[in-house]
Amino acid sequence: MTNPAESKTLTETGPGTTMGNLMRQYWLPALKSSELVADGDPVRLMLLGEKLIAFRDSSGRVGVMDHRCPHRCASLFFGRNEEDGIRCVYHGWKFDVEGNCLDMANVPPHQDFKHKVKAKAYKAAERGGVVWVYMGDTESVPGLPDLEAINLPEDELEVTFVLRECNYLQALEGDIDPSHFSFLHFGLVQPDDIAEEVMARHITIDRAPKFELTETEWGLMVGTPRPAKPGFNYWRMTHFALPFWTLTPHGAIGDHIWARGWVPLDDTHTMHVEFSWAARSPAVKGRKDGSKIPGAAGVSGHLANTSDWLGRWRLAANASNDYQIDRAAQRSESYSGMTGILLQDQAITESMGATTDHSFERLAPSDQVITRTRRRLLQTAEAFAATGTPPPGAANPEIYGIPRGGDYLAAADTDWREAYEKEIARLDNRVSPARQAAE
Ligand code: FES
Ligand SMILES: [Fe+2]
Repeated sequence: MTNPAESKTLTETGPGTTMGNLMRQYWLPALKSSELVADGDPVRLMLLGEKLIAFRDSSGRVGVMDHRCPHRCASLFFGRNEEDGIRCVYHGWKFDVEGNCLDMANVPPHQDFKHKVKAKAYKAAERGGVVWVYMGDTESVPGLPDLEAINLPEDELEVTFVLRECNYLQALEGDIDPSHFSFLHFGLVQPDDIAEEVMARHITIDRAPKFELTETEWGLMVGTPRPAKPGFNYWRMTHFALPFWTLTPHGAIGDHIWARGWVPLDDTHTMHVEFSWAARSPAVKGRKDGSKIPGAAGVSGHLANTSDWLGRWRLAANASNDYQIDRAAQRSESYSGMTGILLQDQAITESMGATTDHSFERLAPSDQVITRTRRRLLQTAEAFAATGTPPPGAANPEIYGIPRGGDYLAAADTDWREAYEKEIARLDNRVSPARQAAE
């Protein structure tokens, strides 16, 4: 049970909030690098409830700053991106990517005080074809999270952005919920439909799995076993990593380098940012006859981006058209009638309301992962508020290199943690910045 005070702490990420202060200790994946063109149009960007603009200057550097000009608050979205800076069109003040005022064009030279003026700029970095933003104290900027997926060479990496119109917490919880897959995504799929060698077949056999979970330094590790061939269990490993990362199982752990960030734009909008290993990205699990499982498909159908604060990476199938639900298909072949794993998750988590009313929930034992994740987030945010000590992963981003989601078979009599460690130890494709530099 999440009480109203906890609910508020968990779901509010604006400036000055407990969770917002925690989120500001971490780098946030914010835009595709390709969204910013040197000397191109500034982009409106909402992050943690703050209205920002992002632009790429003439030298290719990225600037991310409060959209308000520090002179009299005109929006720099309308600014001129020219000669290594953004120039406000109201009175011509100009700022570089670090917020330094380069020119105070409307003030006579003897009254100029540009050296005393700064636009509110945040640190930006690029990796994996993504612009990352750090909104915390700029005196102690941490490294980017060492997630395997973001350290993949760019030509092996696929990055997908999708706007989700709800609070980040319920979006994130949709990824770590261990029992919904057998219903929402595979509800009408029968074991006989799927080839023996496709491990995900076991999802269709045991639809009320038990699960194991444990706290780690970086977050929460969850294993869901289902009976497989005699003497073996089929395990799906899912991880939650602070503060908004999920590492979910979409295939064999050896073929599977995958991370998703659930980045709060404001309290009712979240950007899903998915990093996956393009070369080995698992195909949607097929049926025995080679056809696709009805309703199971990748992400498709983005609308064109607009310049609105919340106009980037929306899907054509959305709440306004009931996510293009096909009721006939729902009766005969697809549990939800909606096409695409992500779209199914999108529809369901958005359907809970912009921010879930936790007082209306009736949690079950199958929701223990949800409650433990909330508790971990609360404890971490409150500990940071109390001590100011950098939270896990902020000052030591290398800890993200440890977990990997995915599935495998393990002997039923092996301890689940040991079995996981063994699987991780035998991976020959671990990705680290060191490996990338060596290649
Ligand atoms: S408001 Fe921007 S230069 Fe005056
Ligand atoms: Fe899902």
